[in-house]
Amino acid sequence: MNDKNLIIFDTTLRDGEQSPGASMDIDEKVQIASALEKLKVDVIEAGFPIASKGDFSAVSEIAKSIETSTICALARALEKDISIAADALKDASNPRIHTFIATSPIHMEKKLKMTPLEVIETAKKAITLAKTFTNDVEFSPEDAGRSDLKFLCEVISVAIDAGATTINIPDTVGYNLPHQFGKLIDNIINNVKNSDKAVFSVHCHNDLGLAVANSLSAVMNGARQVECTINGLGERAGNAALEEIVMTVRTRRDIFDCDTNIDTKNILKTSRLVSGITGFPVQPNKAIVGKNAFAHESGIHQDGIIKSRETYEIMRAEDIGLVSNSLVLGKHSGRNAFKQKVEDLNIMPKTSSEFDDLFYRFKDLADKKHEIFDEDIINLVSNMIVKHSSINFNYMNVSTESGKKPHAHLVLNIDGDLKEAKSDGDGAVDAAFNAIEKIVQSKSKLLLYSVNNITSGTDAQGEVTVRISKNSTVYNGHGADTDIVKASVLALINALNKLKENPESNSIKKSGI
Ligand code: KIV
Ligand code: ZN
Repeated sequence: MNDKNLIIFDTTLRDGEQSPGASMDIDEKVQIASALEKLKVDVIEAGFPIASKGDFSAVSEIAKSIETSTICALARALEKDISIAADALKDASNPRIHTFIATSPIHMEKKLKMTPLEVIETAKKAITLAKTFTNDVEFSPEDAGRSDLKFLCEVISVAIDAGATTINIPDTVGYNLPHQFGKLIDNIINNVKNSDKAVFSVHCHNDLGLAVANSLSAVMNGARQVECTINGLGERAGNAALEEIVMTVRTRRDIFDCDTNIDTKNILKTSRLVSGITGFPVQPNKAIVGKNAFAHESGIHQDGIIKSRETYEIMRAEDIGLVSNSLVLGKHSGRNAFKQKVEDLNIMPKTSSEFDDLFYRFKDLADKKHEIFDEDIINLVSNMIVKHSSINFNYMNVSTESGKKPHAHLVLNIDGDLKEAKSDGDGAVDAAFNAIEKIVQSKSKLLLYSVNNITSGTDAQGEVTVRISKNSTVYNGHGADTDIVKASVLALINALNKLKENPESNSIKKSGI
């Protein structure tokens, strides 16, 4: 093991997806996995294959498409979980099975109804089985943060003897304090006799807002893998935020004697992609990736920055991929200028026909919006996965007037036939959605509606995410336009197309652990 290397294990697609309301479909998961690979994440936890058909397919598609990052699948310490995880990983270049069982008194007694001895035996059996599929096996004693230290060391020692190559210490309920969690890691590493045979990892939840602090304290005490998520997504209050861990370690090289492989210039782009797909906006004052993280409002600060950047900035905005909000292109910009910009932003599509499509979308946007910023172009690329759709937007007329009910007239092209409907609603978006439902008759339920502005200004593009469900299957839809109502209509149509194309298999049926 290289002591100077801090392994970044991203669990946005597994624990992150366990955030209430953050389910993603398979295409979206593959898109995020590809962004994580570009970010140079070492390990991508792609899902929990036993949880649903959708989860299994997502892990297996990601395993096929990712080449450099290790692809990890989660499995309880059960035979069926492990063999299904192995099956989902069969095409991965570098597969890892992550198996877990709880070790805290409360979990063993109340949840598992198992004795400590049974837990040890079950863990040993699970790791031995996982080793028959891959050499790279991670073991987590769930709720380690509330487990008895002596018992924890015993389980870990057996796990390493059984072949676990990574031992992950989860603070499952986010209960620990930084000094305590750091000491726990130090104690484990020093008391487990075979600890030199495994990499020690941590997985901290943010219930008390301490996930990042606890993870960093663990790193200072010998942990060499951190499990984290983009934007700190995750079960309940979330997991440690990847961007905060990575930038702290990099910025405070005077404190940390290790560093990550992360290409930090891709941090902002990945954060925006995850926010757009999940519909979870990033709070403006969020560390590293919030809109205000590098904005200086006060005159004194602005004056200081002009004189010397270091007066008020400890990191460079460019290092996380924040390109200055300069006006880049407009309606008269030609193909070559656009190509140069796309190359500078490092987001060139793979094929020339995809580039042509992107250029067409850019021109279309430039007709509506005078100033095209880098963020607009990045967003156009993020929304590029277009497939042939059965339901297409054709025409919309929405009116709102004081004292009158908002009214919408929608025309959709469904498999070549124009279908129209008119409806009232509580607002312009509601009226438009009601008209769409009159045409499509999906009988789906709207679970989430979220709007995010891509840049500032009243002509900024609004990015809308909708989440609908039918028969407990969830479908996400995205749309962007300078007109918020049109963006909303496009987002709903996108979700309805997914429902129509794939009533079951391509979508995620939620089932946590
Ligand atoms: O929080 C937790 O304990 C987990 C484990 C499965 C690692 O997510
Ligand atoms: Zn977790």
